Amino acid sequence: MSNQVEFGKNNLRIYDKKFIKFISYSEIKKRTKVITDEIKRDYKGKEPVIVVILKGAIFFAAELMKNLDFPLRVETLKAKSYGNQMKSSGKVELFITCEDLEGKDIILVEDIIDTGLTISTVVKELLNYRPNSIKIATLLLKTKKFKADLKIDYCGFEIPDKFVIGFGLDFAEFGRNLKHIYILE
Ligand code: IMP
Ligand code: MG
Repeated sequence: MSNQVEFGKNNLRIYDKKFIKFISYSEIKKRTKVITDEIKRDYKGKEPVIVVILKGAIFFAAELMKNLDFPLRVETLKAKSYGNQMKSSGKVELFITCEDLEGKDIILVEDIIDTGLTISTVVKELLNYRPNSIKIATLLLKTKKFKADLKIDYCGFEIPDKFVIGFGLDFAEFGRNLKHIYILE
Protein backbone atom coordinates (compact mmCIF):
# COMPACT_ATOMS: atom_id res chain seq x y z
CA MET A 1 0.00 0.00 0.00
CA SER A 2 1.51 3.33 -1.03
CA ASN A 3 1.58 6.38 1.21
CA GLN A 4 1.41 8.78 -1.74
CA VAL A 5 -2.33 9.26 -1.23
CA GLU A 6 -4.20 9.69 2.03
CA PHE A 7 -7.98 10.07 2.25
CA GLY A 8 -9.89 11.95 4.97
CA LYS A 9 -13.63 12.56 5.19
CA ASN A 10 -13.66 16.01 3.56
CA ASN A 11 -10.06 16.28 2.48
CA LEU A 12 -7.18 14.30 1.04
CA ARG A 13 -3.48 14.47 0.39
CA ILE A 14 -1.61 13.44 -2.75
CA TYR A 15 2.16 13.58 -2.28
CA ASP A 16 2.61 16.94 -0.50
CA LYS A 17 -0.54 18.56 -1.90
CA LYS A 18 -3.64 18.93 0.26
CA PHE A 19 -7.12 19.14 -1.25
CA ILE A 20 -10.47 19.95 0.33
CA LYS A 21 -13.98 19.01 -0.78
CA PHE A 22 -15.30 21.63 -3.20
CA ILE A 23 -18.28 20.41 -5.23
CA SER A 24 -20.30 17.43 -4.02
CA TYR A 25 -21.61 14.68 -6.26
CA SER A 26 -25.19 15.70 -5.48
CA GLU A 27 -24.46 19.25 -6.73
CA ILE A 28 -22.84 17.78 -9.87
CA LYS A 29 -25.87 15.55 -10.45
CA LYS A 30 -28.29 18.44 -10.06
CA ARG A 31 -26.38 20.74 -12.39
CA THR A 32 -25.86 17.97 -14.98
CA LYS A 33 -29.60 17.36 -15.04
CA VAL A 34 -30.18 21.04 -15.94
CA ILE A 35 -27.62 20.77 -18.75
CA THR A 36 -29.15 17.57 -20.13
CA ASP A 37 -32.56 19.25 -20.21
CA GLU A 38 -31.01 21.98 -22.38
CA ILE A 39 -29.35 19.36 -24.62
CA LYS A 40 -32.63 17.46 -24.99
CA ARG A 41 -34.32 20.67 -26.11
CA ASP A 42 -31.50 21.63 -28.51
CA TYR A 43 -31.17 18.17 -30.13
CA LYS A 44 -34.82 17.22 -30.42
CA GLY A 45 -35.23 15.00 -33.50
CA LYS A 46 -31.49 14.75 -34.07
CA GLU A 47 -29.06 11.92 -33.38
CA PRO A 48 -25.96 13.62 -32.02
CA VAL A 49 -22.56 12.03 -31.60
CA ILE A 50 -21.17 12.49 -28.10
CA VAL A 51 -17.39 12.81 -28.38
CA VAL A 52 -15.80 12.20 -24.99
CA ILE A 53 -12.38 13.72 -24.39
CA LEU A 54 -10.36 11.14 -22.48
CA LYS A 55 -9.46 10.57 -19.85
CA GLY A 56 -10.89 13.32 -17.67
CA ALA A 57 -14.39 13.56 -19.11
CA ILE A 58 -15.44 9.95 -18.52
CA PHE A 59 -17.45 10.64 -15.36
CA PHE A 60 -19.15 13.77 -16.65
CA ALA A 61 -19.98 12.12 -19.99
CA ALA A 62 -21.53 9.14 -18.20
CA GLU A 63 -23.57 11.41 -15.95
CA LEU A 64 -24.81 13.41 -18.95
CA MET A 65 -25.67 10.40 -21.08
CA LYS A 66 -27.63 8.67 -18.31
CA ASN A 67 -30.16 11.50 -18.60
CA LEU A 68 -30.40 11.60 -22.39
CA ASP A 69 -33.34 9.57 -23.56
CA PHE A 70 -32.88 9.72 -27.33
CA PRO A 71 -30.68 7.83 -29.81
CA LEU A 72 -27.07 8.93 -29.83
CA ARG A 73 -23.64 7.57 -30.61
CA VAL A 74 -20.53 7.73 -28.45
CA GLU A 75 -17.01 8.25 -29.77
CA THR A 76 -13.82 9.07 -27.92
CA LEU A 77 -10.55 10.85 -28.42
CA LYS A 78 -7.61 11.33 -26.12
CA ALA A 79 -6.02 14.70 -25.48
CA LYS A 80 -2.71 14.99 -23.70
CA SER A 81 -1.00 18.19 -22.74
CA TYR A 82 2.53 17.83 -21.59
CA GLY A 83 4.14 19.83 -18.83
CA ASN A 84 4.39 19.56 -15.10
CA GLN A 85 1.35 18.14 -13.38
CA MET A 86 -0.42 21.36 -12.47
CA LYS A 87 0.28 23.47 -15.53
CA SER A 88 -0.24 22.87 -19.23
CA SER A 89 2.88 23.11 -21.35
CA GLY A 90 1.10 24.84 -24.19
CA LYS A 91 1.35 21.76 -26.40
CA VAL A 92 -1.57 19.42 -27.01
CA GLU A 93 -1.28 15.96 -28.50
CA LEU A 94 -4.42 14.29 -29.86
CA PHE A 95 -5.15 10.60 -30.42
CA ILE A 96 -8.38 10.42 -32.41
CA THR A 97 -10.26 7.15 -32.80
CA CYS A 98 -13.63 8.63 -33.80
CA GLU A 99 -15.53 7.07 -36.68
CA ASP A 100 -18.12 8.46 -39.06
CA LEU A 101 -18.34 12.14 -38.07
CA GLU A 102 -19.10 13.58 -41.49
CA GLY A 103 -22.38 15.50 -41.50
CA LYS A 104 -22.99 14.66 -37.84
CA ASP A 105 -23.94 16.91 -34.93
CA ILE A 106 -21.16 16.59 -32.39
CA ILE A 107 -21.37 17.32 -28.69
CA LEU A 108 -17.83 17.50 -27.37
CA VAL A 109 -17.65 16.57 -23.70
CA GLU A 110 -14.73 17.89 -21.64
CA ASP A 111 -13.97 17.81 -17.92
CA ILE A 112 -12.38 21.22 -17.51
CA ILE A 113 -11.44 24.17 -19.67
CA ASP A 114 -8.69 26.46 -18.48
CA THR A 115 -6.94 28.55 -21.16
CA GLY A 116 -9.06 26.89 -23.84
CA LEU A 117 -6.05 25.58 -25.75
CA THR A 118 -7.04 21.90 -25.51
CA ILE A 119 -10.64 22.38 -26.55
CA SER A 120 -9.79 24.72 -29.42
CA THR A 121 -7.17 22.25 -30.70
CA VAL A 122 -9.78 19.49 -30.59
CA VAL A 123 -12.42 21.59 -32.38
CA LYS A 124 -9.95 22.62 -35.09
CA GLU A 125 -8.99 18.99 -35.69
CA LEU A 126 -12.57 17.68 -35.72
CA LEU A 127 -13.58 20.27 -38.31
CA ASN A 128 -11.42 18.26 -40.76
CA TYR A 129 -13.99 15.45 -40.42
CA ARG A 130 -16.65 17.83 -41.87
CA PRO A 131 -19.32 17.47 -39.16
CA ASN A 132 -22.60 19.38 -39.49
CA SER A 133 -22.08 21.11 -36.13
CA ILE A 134 -19.94 21.03 -33.00
CA LYS A 135 -21.10 22.13 -29.56
CA ILE A 136 -19.07 22.07 -26.37
CA ALA A 137 -20.13 20.78 -22.96
CA THR A 138 -17.71 21.16 -20.06
CA LEU A 139 -18.21 20.31 -16.43
CA LEU A 140 -15.85 23.04 -15.21
CA LEU A 141 -14.62 26.33 -16.64
CA LYS A 142 -11.79 28.34 -15.12
CA THR A 143 -12.78 31.76 -16.38
CA LYS A 144 -9.62 33.65 -15.42
CA LYS A 145 -7.25 32.42 -18.12
CA PHE A 146 -9.79 31.43 -20.75
CA LYS A 147 -8.90 33.24 -23.93
CA ALA A 148 -10.03 31.02 -26.81
CA ASP A 149 -12.34 32.45 -29.42
CA LEU A 150 -14.96 29.75 -28.81
CA LYS A 151 -18.47 29.58 -27.45
CA ILE A 152 -18.87 27.20 -24.53
CA ASP A 153 -22.41 25.97 -25.10
CA TYR A 154 -22.97 24.03 -21.86
CA CYS A 155 -21.04 24.66 -18.67
CA GLY A 156 -21.48 22.99 -15.29
CA PHE A 157 -19.63 25.32 -12.98
CA GLU A 158 -17.40 28.38 -13.36
CA ILE A 159 -14.57 28.01 -10.87
CA PRO A 160 -11.58 30.07 -9.64
CA ASP A 161 -8.07 29.62 -11.00
CA LYS A 162 -7.12 26.80 -8.63
CA PHE A 163 -6.24 23.16 -9.25
CA VAL A 164 -9.06 20.65 -8.81
CA ILE A 165 -9.32 16.86 -8.86
CA GLY A 166 -11.97 14.18 -8.63
CA PHE A 167 -14.93 13.08 -10.75
CA GLY A 168 -12.53 12.16 -13.57
CA LEU A 169 -9.93 14.87 -12.99
CA ASP A 170 -6.48 13.87 -11.84
CA PHE A 171 -3.29 15.11 -10.26
CA ALA A 172 -0.41 12.95 -11.54
CA GLU A 173 -3.04 10.29 -12.43
CA PHE A 174 -4.40 10.16 -8.88
CA GLY A 175 -7.86 11.26 -7.86
CA ARG A 176 -9.88 10.43 -10.98
CA ASN A 177 -12.01 7.94 -9.08
CA LEU A 178 -13.15 10.39 -6.40
CA LYS A 179 -16.91 10.89 -6.34
CA HIS A 180 -16.77 14.59 -5.41
CA ILE A 181 -14.57 17.40 -6.71
CA TYR A 182 -11.75 18.60 -4.46
CA ILE A 183 -9.75 21.84 -4.66
CA LEU A 184 -6.16 22.56 -3.74
CA GLU A 185 -6.03 24.02 -0.25
P1 IMP B 1 -6.48 24.19 -21.22
O1 IMP B 1 -5.93 23.54 -22.44
O2 IMP B 1 -5.57 25.27 -20.68
O3 IMP B 1 -7.89 24.72 -21.40
O4 IMP B 1 -6.51 23.10 -20.08
C1 IMP B 1 -7.42 22.05 -20.11
C2 IMP B 1 -6.79 20.73 -19.77
O5 IMP B 1 -5.83 20.86 -18.72
C3 IMP B 1 -7.86 19.80 -19.26
O6 IMP B 1 -8.26 18.92 -20.29
C4 IMP B 1 -7.18 19.08 -18.12
O7 IMP B 1 -6.57 17.89 -18.61
C5 IMP B 1 -6.09 19.98 -17.66
N1 IMP B 1 -6.47 20.79 -16.47
C6 IMP B 1 -6.63 22.13 -16.39
N2 IMP B 1 -6.93 22.52 -15.16
C7 IMP B 1 -6.98 21.38 -14.42
C8 IMP B 1 -7.28 21.13 -13.02
O8 IMP B 1 -7.54 22.02 -12.20
N3 IMP B 1 -7.24 19.83 -12.64
C9 IMP B 1 -6.94 18.79 -13.48
N4 IMP B 1 -6.67 18.99 -14.79
C10 IMP B 1 -6.69 20.28 -15.25
MG1 MG C 1 -8.34 16.64 -19.70
